[in-house]
Amino acid sequence: MMMTVTPPSTSLQTVSVALAGCPRTYPIIIGAGVLNNLPLLLKIHVFKNNQSGKVLIVTDKTVAGLYLNTVENSLKAEGVLTQTFVVPTGEIAKTADQLSQLYEACHAFGISRRDVVLALGGGVVGDLSGYAAATYYRGCQFVQVPTTLLAQVDSSVGGKVAVNFKDVKNAIGTFYQPSLVVADTACIETLPQRERLAGLAEMVKYALIEQAALGNETPLTAETSFLAHYEAVGSNWAENLPSLIANCCQLKAAVVARDEQESAASDDATGRVCLNLGHTFAHAYESALGYGVLLHGEAVAIGLMQAFWLAERLHLVSTQTANRVQNLLETLNLFPIALPKLPTVDELVALMRKDKKVLKADGLRFVLPTDPIGSLVVDDTVPVADVIAVLERYHHAI
Ligand SMILES: NC(=O)c1ccc[n+]([C@@H]2O[C@H](COP(=O)([O-])OP(=O)(O)OC[C@H]3O[C@@H](n4cnc5c(N)ncnc54)[C@H](O)[C@@H]3O)[C@@H](O)[C@H]2O)c1
Repeated sequence: MMMTVTPPSTSLQTVSVALAGCPRTYPIIIGAGVLNNLPLLLKIHVFKNNQSGKVLIVTDKTVAGLYLNTVENSLKAEGVLTQTFVVPTGEIAKTADQLSQLYEACHAFGISRRDVVLALGGGVVGDLSGYAAATYYRGCQFVQVPTTLLAQVDSSVGGKVAVNFKDVKNAIGTFYQPSLVVADTACIETLPQRERLAGLAEMVKYALIEQAALGNETPLTAETSFLAHYEAVGSNWAENLPSLIANCCQLKAAVVARDEQESAASDDATGRVCLNLGHTFAHAYESALGYGVLLHGEAVAIGLMQAFWLAERLHLVSTQTANRVQNLLETLNLFPIALPKLPTVDELVALMRKDKKVLKADGLRFVLPTDPIGSLVVDDTVPVADVIAVLERYHHAI
């Protein structure tokens, strides 16, 4: 099915990712129909000083069927030379083999350092293309056009690019920032509902880490917080996507600007580690059920609730705060997450213990929420008994 894309948007939102070193600052342009503005945006933000260049579009089979024609045609109409490299849909495309074929495509097209590798798709296409862009001729221009919710709020921002190697996820990777991110929120309309909810879970995470993400310098007020915004829009979130996505990108940009390469101390809850709220639980569920059974965002939704319940048991947050989070997740259909099979509590704890980042001398290590909501701490001494109690509580709720 070929999609007709919404006409160019009149209300675009721009978030700037301000990295140390001015030339590396780049914009994220967000709006419904912004895909149609792509040639102009490339001209302004990528091909500066009236230079032009070639664009190698990398996409997956599914996204190619939906949006490739629009992108190709709009670029060709402006005289931009394009070629396309289509990978299979799904995680199977994030391999060294696909990377090698992508290098072949760069070579055949005669890509130089001033030309563009443009990722049109979800996080898989973004991660693969970004790694190719980072390494081909020691780095050519990279543009992200994310089409999943997860990619629009997370993977396209921040510069982590990678492919998997053997059975290790993201084993071959680096940090490489794009020159431009263009997030067309109209693309989310064609995304399957499960993928939309999985992306939404990551978006809620941003609302729950807002104070930490802002580096504790800007005190939040209850009325203006991102969380209050979510609570106000509730189940109408899809109608408010551009502003919600812009909020997420602002928070990720703030974290990345402070801790671009995850070099902050591991106990600094305002470093990149803050993005991992709920992820220790999430990874255990993903691993226990077998990768691909749960979407990552679904596992994150489970992990967020469990992190707040754990913090409640440890007196870091009030019961009122934990209930507030549960209410929001319920309203958004993110609580409880149905599981095809229930892993045992012992299995989940064993998986957490296996992770060197989680198992510490005095207990388990978690990024946990603390009141006022939006703030986080890193706790190395979480008793296993409390973790078990939280897992059981969730399993009873399903
Ligand atoms: N680099 C980072 O910082 C970072 C962060 C988080 C996740 N990731 C990576 O991102 C990947 C997951 O990304 P994802 O969830 O976007 O998965 P994905 O790229 O596999 O996309 C999910 C599915 O949606 C389809 N799709 C994409 N856009 C669509 C649209 N608009 N309409 C209909 N279908 C569409 C895809 O073809 C695919 O089937 C993982 O490999 C993960 O490791 C990277």
